[in-house]
Amino acid sequence: MESSNNNIYPIFNQLISKREKEERLKQNAKCIWLTGLSGSGKTTLALKLEKKLFESGYFVQVLDGDNIRSGISNNLSFSEKDRLENIRRISEVSKLFINCGIITINCFVSPTNTIRNKAKEIIGEENFIGIYINSDLSICEKRDTKGLYKKARTGEIENFTGISSKFEQPNESFFEVDTNKDISESLNDLLKIVLPLIEIK
Ligand code: ADX
Repeated sequence: MESSNNNIYPIFNQLISKREKEERLKQNAKCIWLTGLSGSGKTTLALKLEKKLFESGYFVQVLDGDNIRSGISNNLSFSEKDRLENIRRISEVSKLFINCGIITINCFVSPTNTIRNKAKEIIGEENFIGIYINSDLSICEKRDTKGLYKKARTGEIENFTGISSKFEQPNESFFEVDTNKDISESLNDLLKIVLPLIEIK
């Protein structure tokens, strides 16, 4: 059988450029990639950030792990291999949004440097704003908003990040937002990082 890459003729270079679309939307299209433990506040912050940016005139799309895993990634597990595939798919999707001039806010546990590097490689380093949403494991477990830590402790869920599957600290290219504190403070910290990078000069 022929490889699926044969007989394919991409026309990327004939499309209206990313820059022209960014100028129309008056923004720099970036992928704001939030990595962190389950329960660290990624989704909560993303929704608040989306609202704030949208109200300020930016055009934004949130891409969230639980949503993506109920659609495009609904055949994937939480093995390392499947997590990598999940992130590969969502990175390709993010690239489509970014090439359309849209800012994406991505909330994915994305627990290892290999996985995060893959995302950065696909999306492009110049388009990628990596942010570590840092909340202590003990606090995430205490919040246990979805009741998943409890299930992970009893073994009802396997490969659970932070309990039975590793979470590596992101490298120094990632910004960091502390979410051990009040959420409005964390949102301000996040805005300080993001706003200067998406404002069109
Ligand atoms: S990732 O590792 O592939 O980046 P992703 O962000 O898509 O993970 O999904 C994480 C979400 O799936 C968590 O917020 C949690 O609600 C749910 N989940 C279910 N099982 C697990 C698990 N074993 N490890 C981590 N998250 C899980």
